[in-house]
Amino acid sequence: MFIVGGSASKALSAALAAEMGIKLAQVEIRRFPDGEAYVRILDDLKGEDVVLVQTTHPDEKLVELLLIQDALREMGVRRIITVVPYYGYARQDRPFQKGEAVSARAVARMIEMQSDAVVLVDVHSRLLIDYFTVPVIHVSSMYEIGNFLKEEGIDMVIAPDKGAVERAKAAAEVVGCHWDHLEKIRIDGSNVRIAPKNLVVSGMKVAIVDDIISTGGTIATAAEQLKSQGASSVIAVCTHGLFSGNAMERLRVCDAVYSCDTLESKRSAISVAPAISRDLTAFLSAVSE
Ligand code: R5P
Repeated sequence: MFIVGGSASKALSAALAAEMGIKLAQVEIRRFPDGEAYVRILDDLKGEDVVLVQTTHPDEKLVELLLIQDALREMGVRRIITVVPYYGYARQDRPFQKGEAVSARAVARMIEMQSDAVVLVDVHSRLLIDYFTVPVIHVSSMYEIGNFLKEEGIDMVIAPDKGAVERAKAAAEVVGCHWDHLEKIRIDGSNVRIAPKNLVVSGMKVAIVDDIISTGGTIATAAEQLKSQGASSVIAVCTHGLFSGNAMERLRVCDAVYSCDTLESKRSAISVAPAISRDLTAFLSAVSE
């Protein structure tokens, strides 16, 4: 078995190879002058099982993933398990108006054409999983996030909205602390309102846990409220740190901001490699029985 890492997931693929104790294959990925990708697998992987790791954001990384799959199939690998740490295009997961493309479904159809199984991490909605017809292993990063928060000495975990409750609860259980949630009302694509709620956070070190930080509007608004209620410090932790536009500026209200390495940046301090390794190993042993 080999790991093949795309250019969007270099650090994570290396971490996963180390975690699983399997080899990282050599891949050449470069760009033609017009920006199109060139991909070549340098190791002979004929007959091997391959775990391909590639985040599909931005668009060009999705194309790169499809090219790597093509090269692997032509080489005659046995099975391709495609790990998509951050799934770009998941936002539109259902039609809201007649005639709309459902991007989550379109991308699922492309990815699964050359996949024997797919690994996804902390998807926002389970609808996405249902668009795949091959087995999907849905990995949670909350154990890793919880361990990180424990090291940080967090007193309380807060979900910024009801949708994040299960995640906050899972992380808090690892920390061994209380958790609660806020009520978010979305105003537009980058602004939210958080309904007033009395929380006992005075003097506490609080962590807000969410799946995605995009514009930073959700976390910044929640952090402002927690600070106004006396939290001594507020740190923000997410699985997928997109940090779009002026997100980091908005997030200056937080004492620290961290993400997992599903999107690699200087904030991605928490690796999901152990979580992927755990669930993938269990899947592989179940299918080989
Ligand atoms: C939405 O419900 C998600 O869980 C996140 O809260 C949302 O994507 C964060 O977006 P932003 O950082 O733009 O507020």
